[in-house]
Amino acid sequence: MKILITGSKGMLGQDIVKELKKTKFEIFDFGKEKLDITNKSDMNIIKKISPNFIINCAAYTKVDLAEKEKEKCYSDNVKGVKEIVDICKRKNFTLVHISTDYVFDGTKKEYNENDKKNPINYYGKTKAESEDIIINNLKKYYIIRTSWLFGKNENNFVEKFLRFSKGKKELKVVNDQFGSPTYTKDLSRAIIKVIDKKYGIYHITNSGNCSWFEFASEIVKKKNIKCKLISCSTKEFPTKAKRPRYSILKNNKIKKLRLWKLALNEYLKEK
Ligand SMILES: NC(=O)c1ccc[n+]([C@@H]2O[C@H](COP(=O)([O-])OP(=O)(O)OC[C@H]3O[C@@H](n4cnc5c(N)ncnc54)[C@H](OP(=O)(O)O)[C@@H]3O)[C@@H](O)[C@H]2O)c1
Repeated sequence: MKILITGSKGMLGQDIVKELKKTKFEIFDFGKEKLDITNKSDMNIIKKISPNFIINCAAYTKVDLAEKEKEKCYSDNVKGVKEIVDICKRKNFTLVHISTDYVFDGTKKEYNENDKKNPINYYGKTKAESEDIIINNLKKYYIIRTSWLFGKNENNFVEKFLRFSKGKKELKVVNDQFGSPTYTKDLSRAIIKVIDKKYGIYHITNSGNCSWFEFASEIVKKKNIKCKLISCSTKEFPTKAKRPRYSILKNNKIKKLRLWKLALNEYLKEK
C-alpha cells in the first residue's frame, strides 16, 4: 500500500512520516519545496506515484497573520486542497485531510463530529471551506479535526512559552479559552489507525481539556520554571484573529487518546 504525505516538513507531517516508517506502508513524503499543493503541474508527481492514500498535512497555519495574508491563506488552504480533491476524484485515491477546532465558533462547550461549522476567524473559514469541498466531491475521505498541537517545531505553544518565560519574573496567560492540547506523536499514531475505519469526519485530540493558563501552569510545574503566571482574560490580551472560547472536540468514534498532561510530560522529557 502506497501512502503519500504532503507538507511533510511541518510539525505534524514530520511525526506522521516517523510513525509511518514503523508500518508496512510504502511512504512518499514531500515538503513544500518538492510538492506545492497549489501548483497544478506538481499534481503529476502524485499521479505518477498513484498512492492508495494521500495525507494532506500541507496548510497555511499562521492564524493571526491570516487576517492580513488572506490570499496566501486561501490559496494554500482552499485552492491547494481543491487540486488534491480533483486528483483524488479522478484517480480514486483516498484523502486523509487534517482540519481544526477553529471551524467552530466556540459558543458550545463541546463539539460533535456532525455539529454545524461556524468559523470566527479567516483561517477557520478557509479550513471549513476546504472541508466542504472534500465532503461535496469525494466518497473516500477522512477529515481529522484536531486542536492545540505541540510537537517538534519552534512555533507551538509549549516551545513559545518556554522561550518567552526564560528570564521573566511574570507572564500573563489567558484563562477564558478552552481546548484540548494534543501531542503530534499521539495524533499521528491515531491517524494511522483511523485509515482502515469507516470514511468520514473524526475528532482526534488528547483527552481532557484546559485553558491556556492551565496549559502554561502545567509546563511551569513540569519544568520547574521560576516565572509567576498571571491569569488574564482574552479582553486584556486581544489577538488579531478571534479565537473560539470553547473548542473541545468530542470524539464519539474511536478509542480515546491518553490525557494531555501525560502526553505533555512525555514530550517535555523527550525533547
Ligand atoms: N498547529 C496547531 O495547533 C493545529 C491545530 C489544529 C489543526 N491543525 C492542522 O494540522 C495540520 C498540520 O499543521 P501543523 O501544525 O503541522 O502546521 P505547520 O507546522 O505549519 O506545517 C504545515 C506545512 O505545510 C507546508 N505548506 C504550506 N503551504 C503549502 C503548499 N502550498 N504546498 C505544500 N506544503 C505547504 C508548510 O510549509 P512552509 O512552512 O514552508 O510554508 C509546512 O511545512 C494543518 O492542516 C493545520 O490546519 C494544526
